[in-house]
Amino acid sequence: MSEPTNGEQAPLLPTGGGPTVNRTRPANPKVRATVQGVLVAVFVVGLVVISVFWENLGDIVNGLPKNPEKAANRLLDAAPVIDGHIDLPILVRSLYGNNASAFDLRKQMPHHVDIPRLRKGKVGGFFWSAYVDCANPEAEGEDFLNSTWRVRDTIEQIDIAKVLISKYSDTFELATTSLEVKAAITKGKIASLIGVEGGHQLGNSIAVLRQLHALGVRYVTLTHVCHNAFADSCGFLEGIKPKWGGLSPLGESLIKEMNRLGVLVDLSHTSDDTARQALNLSAAPVIWSHSSARAVHNVPRNVPDDVLKLVGTGPGQKDAVVMVNFAPFFVAEPGKADVAAVADHVEHIANIAGKQHVGIGSDYDGIGDVPKGLEDVSKYPALIAELRRRGWNRFELAGLTGRNLLRVMAGAEKIAKELQAAGIEPSYDVYDKRTDLPDRDEL
Ligand SMILES: *[C@@H]1O[C@H](CO)[C@@H](O)[C@H](O)[C@H]1NC(C)=O
Ligand SMILES: *[C@@H]1O[C@H](CO)[C@@H](O)[C@H](O)[C@H]1NC(C)=O
Ligand SMILES: *[C@@H]1O[C@H](CO)[C@@H](O)[C@H](O)[C@H]1NC(C)=O
Repeated sequence: MSEPTNGEQAPLLPTGGGPTVNRTRPANPKVRATVQGVLVAVFVVGLVVISVFWENLGDIVNGLPKNPEKAANRLLDAAPVIDGHIDLPILVRSLYGNNASAFDLRKQMPHHVDIPRLRKGKVGGFFWSAYVDCANPEAEGEDFLNSTWRVRDTIEQIDIAKVLISKYSDTFELATTSLEVKAAITKGKIASLIGVEGGHQLGNSIAVLRQLHALGVRYVTLTHVCHNAFADSCGFLEGIKPKWGGLSPLGESLIKEMNRLGVLVDLSHTSDDTARQALNLSAAPVIWSHSSARAVHNVPRNVPDDVLKLVGTGPGQKDAVVMVNFAPFFVAEPGKADVAAVADHVEHIANIAGKQHVGIGSDYDGIGDVPKGLEDVSKYPALIAELRRRGWNRFELAGLTGRNLLRVMAGAEKIAKELQAAGIEPSYDVYDKRTDLPDRDEL
């Protein structure tokens, strides 16, 4: 792509007043030659000025420099990345036993995330994932009723996220609403949201959801790689046999309660039936916090086109944002995941659902391997530059980097307010397989 060497400074160049030309008729050929030389020089300078102006006309119209890398950085200064899914808390649990004194986020951390790289990558916010893995299905039992430590461990993960957010409060600021995200970014902070990555972390209990909301949780992924009392998962790479055929009755109650509270329904990891039913049922916009496109790379974890077609603002559609996952095995065949391949997922989702419905959910620190060119949180500008090369304008790019997510958050906040104003009561539904509570029919 052609680029004036000083593209960004060009508007500061003087545009008028080239060299002054002697207007009197030259008396001899020598003088005439000089005048001709001067005229040619003026003409050349004029062409250069016009061409520089022309180059910058594009910038003025589009608001971005011609050079894709410069454009990416300029764009991100105004519209930084808000990533839907970063697994720093589970990395801290597995490497440091949640001892916040054992490492320094201001220095180079193992894997993909630390403060210097977040700053370099122009990150304005992210969801800190409070993740705990699925229980061994045999130990948990077929009906998910045997005790596990998942609720404790989930609260420990929320705790370590909050400990780090306040320990590095010059960098991070806890955010629980779209307005708080914007306020943090305006202050130069990294807005820090909390998401819980699986219904198995709720102990089959809608009351637990309410208390996680009170702790600041703003999305719950309906499932991780296991089914749970609320919904079917898509499994991992192979896919798994459904248990409920989508949402369970308790799962339907869960979604209604999430809508009432203003906790985003996250459909990453769910089965296609779970996703379809949740899209139909949810009154609020939904998200895929970290999922890519199945038509680009065919794994169950990616979102198929028929589900993407349910995303939008038309009849039978729901507003949503699908935040593209960078995990190489969801992006491309082995060895083929790179910036262009991730951009292919972004563009496919944009083509099917619209550019207002795509975002970024890298899964950094939750993935072992990374795409070439997107090795850690410092590399988001490379993805933006790639999409810029493919013709995305600054409004579309700003939607991708964060504004689409903020719109969806604001939509869910509005629905929650409406439901609460309408006096909708909290859900008191309990999992019908439980035997520890008295049978309500007999009370
Ligand atoms: C936490 O880590 C620091 C540094 O390694 C160590 O000195 C301290 O004893 C640890 N604290 C606990 C409670 O394990
Ligand atoms: C888990 O629950 C099942 C019933 O679903 C039971 O048969 C099994 O013994 C339980 N496992 C443990 C480890 O308690
Ligand atoms: C959506 O839900 C309604 C009931 O609320 C149901 O009648 C309809 O069949 C559902 N549509 C789909 C596509 O699941």
